[in-house]
Amino acid sequence: MSAVPAIVLIGPMGVGKSTVGRLLAERLGVGYRDTDEDIVTAEGRAIAEIFVDEGEDAFRAIEKRAVRTALAEHEGVVALGGGAVLDPDTRAALAGHRVVYLSMEVDEAVRRTGLNVARPLLAVNPRKQWRELMEARRHLYEEVATAVVPTDGRTPEEVTQAALDAL
Ligand code: S3P
Repeated sequence: MSAVPAIVLIGPMGVGKSTVGRLLAERLGVGYRDTDEDIVTAEGRAIAEIFVDEGEDAFRAIEKRAVRTALAEHEGVVALGGGAVLDPDTRAALAGHRVVYLSMEVDEAVRRTGLNVARPLLAVNPRKQWRELMEARRHLYEEVATAVVPTDGRTPEEVTQAALDAL
């Protein structure tokens, strides 16, 4: 039987989906699930390793299946990887769910993630890459979001409260 997730969190890497997702799940008394964690568990290796070993397209195919499984199985809060919305089928699968887009500006993104080698998409020239990522993805997040919660200058607790208010 397919369950309907209470809330799906989307937004760029480093925006705080995992932290806010856990807080939100706690406040709502439901479980928390993170598709990046599901992928690492299922594959037995880090996401950066999948990118290096098999490339981004292979990772996206794995991610698409992980998102579909999480949406079908989980009733609580589900956080998706920052690039999950690139896939049109994933965007279509989000229809009918409550989808909260945690947003941040480029400056905030650079400040928060810095030179994070664990995040393969930001390994070189983070500011330029952030600008390009945001330009390419912002409209995709907005397309599937049922609520937008800006996070700049807010603590995870404040973002969680804003997400609850926006639901
Ligand atoms: C990615 C975001 C990451 C992870 C992978 C690719 C992206 O997830 O899925 O490194 O394309 O933005 P987080 O948003 O949870 O960091």
